[in-house]
Amino acid sequence: MSESGVPVGVFDSGVGGLSVLRAMRSLLPAQDLLYFGDQAHVPYGPRSLAEVRAFSEEITRFLLRRGAKLIVVACNTASAAALQHLRLTFPQVPFVGMEPAVKPAAETSRTHRVGVLATPATFQGALYASVVERFASGTTIFQDTLPGLVNEIEAGRLEGAETRRILEKALRPMLAEQIDTVVLGCTHYPFVIPLIQEIVGPAVQVIDPAPAIARQTRRLLEQHGWLAQNEANGFLSFVTSGPVSPFAKILTRLLGESAPVEGVRWNSSNLPD
Ligand code: DGL
Repeated sequence: MSESGVPVGVFDSGVGGLSVLRAMRSLLPAQDLLYFGDQAHVPYGPRSLAEVRAFSEEITRFLLRRGAKLIVVACNTASAAALQHLRLTFPQVPFVGMEPAVKPAAETSRTHRVGVLATPATFQGALYASVVERFASGTTIFQDTLPGLVNEIEAGRLEGAETRRILEKALRPMLAEQIDTVVLGCTHYPFVIPLIQEIVGPAVQVIDPAPAIARQTRRLLEQHGWLAQNEANGFLSFVTSGPVSPFAKILTRLLGESAPVEGVRWNSSNLPD
């Protein structure tokens, strides 16, 4: 294996997966990372699982054509809709997926009352039901889908009045129920952690799964002998199915570095080569 390892493909409905990519960049700075944001279809959360599954399969094919060897589904909604299907369809490809971090929340909550924030599709999926069944017995879970929040974050309004209103509407009733832990079950939400923490106060822990996902990615790369070993930073490249310049702008802001951005168009249900 060459010192530069293999490229890792990462995808999300939009900019949310950048919260995962940011953690990967910090843990795996030498790895080449190729990111796809499906902004033509964001938000995924209110869509059917079947529709999100079809998008996810085609995006995976696109990333594999571009040389990715391992795929990180940096989207809870796409993981809920498609992770199992992707593993069956591409058996030779290792996948890292997201699931709401109910397990560490249930293990560490002292009040045994936990708030979970995720999209409607994530809550509908079998993955979430199985996580709750396996890990949350004895813990009371309070759920909210934060309608409209993904759009606010896509637009870069991380501290806007509407963002605050959506978060307060969800979190205040949870606080009244004595939650002491909030699980971020959507990769867009870590970008509003400062506001969430301000609303819930310092005594409530907010769980961002991104560092754990980066560690799992590193474990899989090591297992396959694909970990980049060189000193220099890996190459970052970004593709959006939406307009390029707003993506490039928010990318620099959310990631703290800039990189080339390419625009692609869906042609009915297909992406170009
Ligand atoms: N960032 C995504 C997730 O983790 C998708 C949000 C959306 O597009 O609704 O669920």
